[in-house]
Amino acid sequence: MRQRALITGAAGGMGRACARLLGASRDLVLTDVTTEALQRFADELASDGYAIAGVHAGDLASEAVLEALTCDLAVEAPFTIVHTAGLSPSQADWRRIMDVNLVATERLLRAVEPLLRPESVAVLIASGAGHFPVAAPQMDALLADPLAPGFLDLIGAGIETILGPGHPNANGMSYMFSKRALIRLCERRAEAWGRRGARIVSISPGLILTPMGKLEREKSPLVATLEHSAPAGRPGSPMEIAFAARFLASDEASFITGCDLRVDGGGIAAERARQG
Ligand SMILES: NC(=O)c1ccc[n+]([C@@H]2O[C@H](COP(=O)([O-])OP(=O)(O)OC[C@H]3O[C@@H](n4cnc5c(N)ncnc54)[C@H](O)[C@@H]3O)[C@@H](O)[C@H]2O)c1
Repeated sequence: MRQRALITGAAGGMGRACARLLGASRDLVLTDVTTEALQRFADELASDGYAIAGVHAGDLASEAVLEALTCDLAVEAPFTIVHTAGLSPSQADWRRIMDVNLVATERLLRAVEPLLRPESVAVLIASGAGHFPVAAPQMDALLADPLAPGFLDLIGAGIETILGPGHPNANGMSYMFSKRALIRLCERRAEAWGRRGARIVSISPGLILTPMGKLEREKSPLVATLEHSAPAGRPGSPMEIAFAARFLASDEASFITGCDLRVDGGGIAAERARQG
């Protein structure tokens, strides 16, 4: 039986690129919160000869979507997950960003973990923002348990303590913490996944020219500055993320787990070098 690849955020920039690359050798399970765009993309893939095992429109944070996805992955073969669904600072408020980027990720992983088989792999899309050097040990302790009671209220209070009430960068800070937590979540889970013969890794993209990346470049002067200061001197393409995801999901990456791969044109390295 062919492996299945679940692509979350499949109607988005990176999701589409990942579906096209991974779908060449795997049956695809596609999910996104947008209904029409997702169905159009699934139809396009089917007419190009891709095998589609499932298409599920809806909020990844919902029980109904999680249930449908786990049903599609419960087959006699290891699965691959490329988890791209996420919200950026200009797309939602801090609460929704944390809820989708981190809480929904934790729930997705918990839902699929009973189905892990040797050679199952999850590739989570984090962000270069998750590497920003903000020292906040109390926040990090909270972020380690996204399903704790009152989690979002505690995060809101933590952001307010750092920035002050109603600060315009609350969304950006929530995004940064959600992605940092995602990177750490991979590190923490690798051992348990390894015992099942499975791997879990993250990718931290720099600015990538997807609908989200274009919006952030337009709205945030910091993003525009970082784009030019990275050694590559240009934004990345969704395919450059998909190539990295395909590699990490392949047997060629069989000794790689519990770590984060920066695919950012050297942006974080240059920033660290500048800060000394
Ligand atoms: N584009 C960039 O410059 C950039 C940089 C660093 C990290 N990232 C991360 O990469 C990932 C992919 O981003 P992209 O650039 O392809 O963005 P995108 O906006 O093109 O795609 C994201 C997709 O996620 C979907 N989505 C959003 N909320 C959802 C929810 N609740 N349930 C299900 N689906 C949902 C959207 O509908 C969209 O199709 C995101 O996690 C993002 O944070 C992007």
